[in-house]
Amino acid sequence: MSVILGIETSCDETGVAVIRDGRIVLANEVASQIDVHKEFGGVVPEIASRQHTKIISQLVEKALRDCSAEIDAIAATRGPGLMGSLLVGLCFGKALAYAWAKPFIGVHHIEGHIYSSMFCERAPDFPFLALVVSGGHTQLVQCPAPHRYEIIGTTRDDAVGESFDKVARLLGLPYPGGPSIQKAAEGGDPGAYRFPRAMLDTERLEFRYSGLKTAVLYALREEKAPNIANLAASFQAAAVDVLLIKTKQAIQMLGAERVVLAGGVAANRLLRQRLTAELGIDVFLPPFAYCVDNGAMIAAAADSRFRHGLLDPLSATPDPSLTLG
Ligand code: KG4
Ligand code: ZN
Repeated sequence: MSVILGIETSCDETGVAVIRDGRIVLANEVASQIDVHKEFGGVVPEIASRQHTKIISQLVEKALRDCSAEIDAIAATRGPGLMGSLLVGLCFGKALAYAWAKPFIGVHHIEGHIYSSMFCERAPDFPFLALVVSGGHTQLVQCPAPHRYEIIGTTRDDAVGESFDKVARLLGLPYPGGPSIQKAAEGGDPGAYRFPRAMLDTERLEFRYSGLKTAVLYALREEKAPNIANLAASFQAAAVDVLLIKTKQAIQMLGAERVVLAGGVAANRLLRQRLTAELGIDVFLPPFAYCVDNGAMIAAAADSRFRHGLLDPLSATPDPSLTLG
């Protein structure tokens, strides 16, 4: 049995969780900073780190109170992310590890997202293909065994979540853009605009989302009374279409038998529906609570690292551009 405390502060969510045996959540505290950053239309790094500093000890105290379990190891996100934000969680985690004389584990943020699949009703077996879709990443990752990753496809420009955020801003919808666009799209016609699907003329597993955003901008400029629902629905349809097509290509190339969805955009209902309906293989969708940044996913990845003896020294430093694998 292992009990891990996981801390996530890479961007604008302070997440603290305690989990047992890699997938039983004993406590999960998430403090979102959305309201603080909303008026700026995106995350302000300096404000983000200050907010983490303000709230982290309260969240850790609450998580420990909620679970009252003996902690075996402490984990925190080491990167990628905002330097100031990463520093808060990593230093807090290392300080606890030192004070309690427990092992410390630094986790890659995307490894955490991939391990959010451990909270599915049935955890995926290795090997699997991961579709990672967040505010900073759009990647197809081959996962042959625990903690081994091969990035087989990535974006050439914007990440898909970033594209949702930028398009929402164009359409006058609130930050964060993903949930706003999903909501606005509910009453819209996804066929109203035929927005471009980039990179479909190539076998390469690459994404481009910048052109889609520009296409929405041009369509918006041409309308005297733009129909936001139709624009949102047509954008969402195009963004999701490309993810589906490239994932299908990757499955064929690798002969993959299961797909794990990971990252904040994994909360998108259209994406979840289409992956389940169209892939024809096992699809693992993390529960909604574990899609956007949280401490439980960091603890889940750390639990596996702990069991594999992959510990980190207290000299570990944050790395805003840490690579996976
Ligand atoms: O993983 P995450 O919480 O932070 C990063 O690691 O970036 O992902 C945040 C991203 C944002 O771009 C947000 O707009 C997007 O996930 N997102 C969504 C939805 N919920 C969050 N995108 C599409 N549909 C959603 N329902
Ligand atoms: Zn994330």
